[in-house]
Amino acid sequence: MDLGGTNFRVCSVTLKGDTTFTIAQSKVAIPRSLMVSDSKSLFSFLAKQIAIFVEEHHSDHFAEDLGHHLHLGFTFSFPVDQKAVNKGFLIRWTKGFDIPDAIGKDVCALLQAEIDLLGLPVTVAALVNDTVGTLMARSYTSPGKTGTLLGAIFGTGTNGAYVERLDRLTKMTKPGADVGEYDKSTGEMVVNTEWGSFDNAMKVLPDTPYDRALDVNSVNPGVQMFEKRVSGMFLGEILRNAVLVLKDNANMFSTATIKADSPLYTAWSLDTSVLSYIESDDTPNYLVTRETIQREMGVSGRISAEEAEAVKILVHAIGKRSARLSAVPIAAIIIATGKLGPKPDSADVEGLNLKDLSLIEQGIAAIKTAVMGQPTAAPIVDAPPPATTGASSTTVEEGDTIDVGVDGSVVEFYPGFEEHVRSALRDVPEFGAAGEKRVRMGIAKDGSGVGAALIALVAYKMANGLV
Ligand code: GLC
Repeated sequence: MDLGGTNFRVCSVTLKGDTTFTIAQSKVAIPRSLMVSDSKSLFSFLAKQIAIFVEEHHSDHFAEDLGHHLHLGFTFSFPVDQKAVNKGFLIRWTKGFDIPDAIGKDVCALLQAEIDLLGLPVTVAALVNDTVGTLMARSYTSPGKTGTLLGAIFGTGTNGAYVERLDRLTKMTKPGADVGEYDKSTGEMVVNTEWGSFDNAMKVLPDTPYDRALDVNSVNPGVQMFEKRVSGMFLGEILRNAVLVLKDNANMFSTATIKADSPLYTAWSLDTSVLSYIESDDTPNYLVTRETIQREMGVSGRISAEEAEAVKILVHAIGKRSARLSAVPIAAIIIATGKLGPKPDSADVEGLNLKDLSLIEQGIAAIKTAVMGQPTAAPIVDAPPPATTGASSTTVEEGDTIDVGVDGSVVEFYPGFEEHVRSALRDVPEFGAAGEKRVRMGIAKDGSGVGAALIALVAYKMANGLV
């Protein structure tokens, strides 16, 4: 199950072992009231959704032998202090959630308690951030033999997880560090960077009055400052703030009528899809932009072409800034892991690869054996043509490819997003055009669900001594 975006999803995944999978899922929008409630209300709601799903798709598990539990991967996309594969204490909420009594609690235990109250045959086996799920899912589905370095989300929020050498994680090696249980055998670890909170001190991030107004009115002022300039939850609000200033100071919409309860006057009411419509408008006299302003902002009456053009310029600036900022952590991680070195094997880490068994930890290796149902020496089955998001890197040799798995509504649907990311990567001196070409970005569709299923499978096998 997946909690952390606009929707809550429950899914069951069948991994076919040849880079493909099938997925059955149910999706509900999370009621806004639950996002700012108490932990009991939220987690009992989640458990009820699981009950509905299990009854519909796995009713056989309600049969008498309740020992036959379903092992649940719990994608919980908020910052947690993770102490074990199925234990993590919430550090803070992000993306508009604000449930103070959950802070400092083990979210797996909160969920398990509600599942048990309903008597469901479900065990919370693994706690997964959506970026880690995306990294896992991409490393399972990506084409060819290249491992995946980075899983990144550009959706309601933004964040990235990558593979790092354990000896570089000073947090883990500090004497007396309370880091919980982890397996040291591979010498590597997946790191959830929580880059949404990079530069909270605002040393380098761009800042405008519209960003400041958004931050002050958010449930978490002063944190997630990078995310508040990049991700889908925030772009509409930046636009709304900017349009309001134009309206008040530059007579914008002076010939139109705007009711007091219109979305333009309502905080957080503009979805990023509003910006997408306007960004892609190429109609004469900005017809689509004008219609969108009327429909989505609640501005009726006459809107001039100049006013629509001004809104379009704002939209373009907000979207382009978001995409160019998104390139920064991607570039930083690629540089820091030595991936731009002349030969692929000069890199510090190989990346996660669910296809090449020599490179992955024993537990992960078990996934392949289990799902392929054949010995580990079996030939590697290459995937169908790459699911890239757009600009391709066809001239790059397989060994030079730097594979990045991405997911989220902004990277998937915002017009021109990947092109702006790529243009910014080319501007990073270490990359240039040649470095940028080596980056292969692929949508890991349903990555949170598939990745959580992969990790739950490993966790189950490890807990039961099957690996
Ligand atoms: C927020 C969360 C982070 C998550 C990201 C994308 O930044 O703190 O854990 O990965 O959103 O959903």
